[in-house]
Amino acid sequence: MAKLCIIGAGAVGTAAAHWAAVKAVAEEIVLIDIVPDLARGKALDIAQSAPVYGFSCRVWGTEDFGALKGSDVVILTAGRPRKPGMSREDLLRTNLEVVRSCAEAVRDLAPESILIVVTNPIDAMVYAAFRTTGFPRNRVLGMAGVLDSARYRYFIAEALGVSPRDVQALVMGIHGDHMLPLTRLANVAGIPVTDLLPPEKISEIVERTRKGGGEIVSYLKTGSAFTCPGLAAVEMAGAVLRDEKRVFTCSVWLEGEFGFSEVFIGVPVVLGAGGLERVLTFELTEEERKALKASVESVRKQMALTGL
Ligand code: APR
Repeated sequence: MAKLCIIGAGAVGTAAAHWAAVKAVAEEIVLIDIVPDLARGKALDIAQSAPVYGFSCRVWGTEDFGALKGSDVVILTAGRPRKPGMSREDLLRTNLEVVRSCAEAVRDLAPESILIVVTNPIDAMVYAAFRTTGFPRNRVLGMAGVLDSARYRYFIAEALGVSPRDVQALVMGIHGDHMLPLTRLANVAGIPVTDLLPPEKISEIVERTRKGGGEIVSYLKTGSAFTCPGLAAVEMAGAVLRDEKRVFTCSVWLEGEFGFSEVFIGVPVVLGAGGLERVLTFELTEEERKALKASVESVRKQMALTGL
């Protein structure tokens, strides 16, 4: 029986629990939050939608981290979201302690689990979780690429008036302004987007993708995106729990792939029962390599700020 624990019953954690139940990725879904009763209330609300929607998994919430025991996958969303005018770096100091304490609990109580980190700034927080848990690299993953690629695909579909399902596109690198939405590889049912849209429109879409999180923060004012981030984390969890061998961009610890080592960065990987099973490497153009290098340098700066 598969068990999924989600730490943080805020906007993203609650969305993740909701999607996990609807998509039936685990038989048991547990929400954990330090605020007394919060996770209990959020989980009960989701559980009560079971008869209406028609799912049969068990959803419950608690403030007791002991509930982590026996988890196959843990999604970590605890921490503050961005506010308008706040960079992901501003968030780093605030969220570092939260991520470290939650990662310690995961290390001690769910030592065999696969950990998916969603808390921002993702690439630095997943590094902090990797160092804190001491888990091997295949079991510590950052969720960013699934979300960034979804935004990129959505904007391309919107510009072309086609179904977003038929747009495939890859976003690599840091989850932030230096991310790399690869234009060369974006396609609509196999047709290169570069043949379908003028370069100025593609540049506009790339820029909007890079600032995708900020655009939502500017509208929401008191928080950041949650529906798509929650779903993206659940897609990753589902790939692991069902051993699906899905190909997603995830922030993972590189060991020489794409010419980089000892850094967490978004690259395409195969996700299955073992977590990260393989990094899918391919030849980058000179320009793409330069952009990925800039991304790596930004992450290294964030990693240094963690002091780990
Ligand atoms: N242990 C458990 N839960 C915690 C802890 C902790 N140590 N510290 C904070 N939390 C909980 C808060 O009580 C809150 O319920 O984390 C939750 C965060 O929820 P929100 O404030 O709604 O934030 P959310 O929008 O869900 O974003 C969470 O995900 O996408 C990222 O940038 C985002 O870093 C942010 C994180």
